[in-house]
Amino acid sequence: MDPTYDPCRPEWRDDPYPLYRELREAAPVYWAPTTRAFCVSRYADVMFVLRSPEIFSSRAMFTFLMNQGYEGRPPLSWALLRFLAKLVWRTRLNPLEFTTARHLIAADGEQHTSLRSIVNRGFTPRRIAAWEARARELVAEAMVKLRSGAPFDLIGDLAIPLPVSIIAEMLGVETSRQSDFKRWSDTIVHMVTGPGRGNPLAPRTADTMIEVLAYLRQVVEDRKRRPTDDLVSAIVAEQDGESGLSVREVVQFVLLLLVAGNETTTNLIGNAVAALLDHPSELARVVADPALVPDVIEETLRYDPPIQMVFRTAMQDVEVAGTRIPKGAYVVPLLGSANRDERQFPDPDRFDVSRRPQGHVGFGFGKHFCLGASLARLEARVALEGLVPHLGQLESTSPRERVDSFLVRGPRRLELHRAA
Ligand code: HEM
Repeated sequence: MDPTYDPCRPEWRDDPYPLYRELREAAPVYWAPTTRAFCVSRYADVMFVLRSPEIFSSRAMFTFLMNQGYEGRPPLSWALLRFLAKLVWRTRLNPLEFTTARHLIAADGEQHTSLRSIVNRGFTPRRIAAWEARARELVAEAMVKLRSGAPFDLIGDLAIPLPVSIIAEMLGVETSRQSDFKRWSDTIVHMVTGPGRGNPLAPRTADTMIEVLAYLRQVVEDRKRRPTDDLVSAIVAEQDGESGLSVREVVQFVLLLLVAGNETTTNLIGNAVAALLDHPSELARVVADPALVPDVIEETLRYDPPIQMVFRTAMQDVEVAGTRIPKGAYVVPLLGSANRDERQFPDPDRFDVSRRPQGHVGFGFGKHFCLGASLARLEARVALEGLVPHLGQLESTSPRERVDSFLVRGPRRLELHRAA
């Protein structure tokens, strides 16, 4: 067992799975001294954490990730003052709300239920199914390029534009700003879970954050003046509704949907195609029977999930797998490890397109179960249905570079060309 394991460092990014196995065997609740967090690696224990929100608060999804570990206000510095001054000047958002604003993903109990109910209606199965035709159009456009024989990067040419276009259209924000959306969400991933962690106020990162917030503030104001039937209008309406959202909370809500709807689905499509190319016999089964596509998606969410872990704060002293976790400690349920737990999934390191894994935690579990799961499944299914007929004749020979993040897992590029 490598005693230097730290869930937030990049060394394990290429292949974390052998290490997860060691953790499950030797230290199922492992104290990572540099991150100062308890990493939980077995399926049953991960489920215990996720299904006990009264013991394990989601506030760590803000304090650990966004606030870089600070429970209260980050310490004053010139960089912070510069950021706050620019923020007020460019966005007119209240800087004092920095740590008090409510976030869906970090809220608990009643507060979480009421925030979630604001957006739930935009994600009902019927509403999501209505996006299938648009997803088909976008995939068909990408397939024209693939068939033309021009260089085709699965990520840049399909796996990014598909979810970015759909979430932008769902939110009702300008499609012409799509390349900005991608740049913004990449910056946030870099700042929160990549090499930018530890220096979130670096001038380029801070300026990009202000650019996003200023843009969203303007969108929110437009919608307040001229409401439509899009999701942003539904969220904006809550300023005067029961939950009385502040402008800052509305902006954050929209930002969460923009980022969550972008980075993750791109990596689900990338990881699914990478796994198929790495397992030619499984690929042959899917080519012969495309009805297996939904099963490929579930198996990918188990075998190589785009979100490797989530974060929680222990609200009381609690014992998990014989280890005492003190009140206030950070806890990291390793979703990527739970999904490979041999106690739950037989022969877990095998990618098996007909496995139909029941109960994988690729979308989390419990109250915070992914809001966008059915949208992600729809987009990935339509993308794979378009790709599968071609995949048998394609190969990817370029080295596989990964997204530079400890949390988000997927290929950064995946060039496909005709097999020699
Ligand atoms: C393959 C794609 C996706 C994966 C793997 C994924 C994964 C996850 C996971 C693991 C969580 C649980 C977080 C926790 O327990 O703390 C989550 C929550 C969430 N996801 Fe996703 N997600 C995906 C796509 C999407 C999409 C397309 C959207 C929106 C359009 C979205 C919006 C959200 C939101 C808003 C939450 C917070 C829900 C809450 O706190 O109640 N996700 N996602």
